[in-house]
Amino acid sequence: MPEPSTTPTHAPHGPLPTGGQVRPITRWGTPVMHRAQATVTEFDEALTRLAADMVATMYAADGVGLAACQIGEDVAMFVFDCPDDEGEHTVGVVCNPMITLPEGRERRLDAGEEGCLSFPGSFVECPRPDWAAVDGVGLDGNPVHFEGSGLLARCLQHETDHTLGTVFGDRLSTKARKRLQKQHDKAADDYPLDWPAQA
Ligand code: NI
Repeated sequence: MPEPSTTPTHAPHGPLPTGGQVRPITRWGTPVMHRAQATVTEFDEALTRLAADMVATMYAADGVGLAACQIGEDVAMFVFDCPDDEGEHTVGVVCNPMITLPEGRERRLDAGEEGCLSFPGSFVECPRPDWAAVDGVGLDGNPVHFEGSGLLARCLQHETDHTLGTVFGDRLSTKARKRLQKQHDKAADDYPLDWPAQA
């Protein structure tokens, strides 16, 4: 997910892997983005290197979250560095994510704007629950749990969706999807196909 322009950029904190290479971001329409990603079973050095590339690419693109399929890898993993509704940043790496959303009276929708680094240059409103939790596995093979509100809730849902082959355009009305497409087409010159690798 890209960072909305209203959110100030913060320095990263927490144990995200570093030293990765910025890679071109895979676009919607590429098959790997539209199918469920392979479950992570080997928590080895190659996985950490992949996560480091994802982190480097996410920051280069001013993103708050990035899934492995967004750099072309069929791996159910995402990284994030995202503020919640109080501006508090949480960072993490989640393999094999499982989302938990509020139900019944606890379920309130936030109609905030959403964008995707794999369809860059446009944002539209996308109603989603205003709180989310995700459980999964970290790079060391141990369980991880993250939860939060605001943009963090949106990010956890958006990135978990990616690992399942869903992009947020799939969740939009035809009308909203057309608006998104129009903005994206208009901004195309700002996002060459190797973006952000050559930026
Ligand atoms: Ni995305």
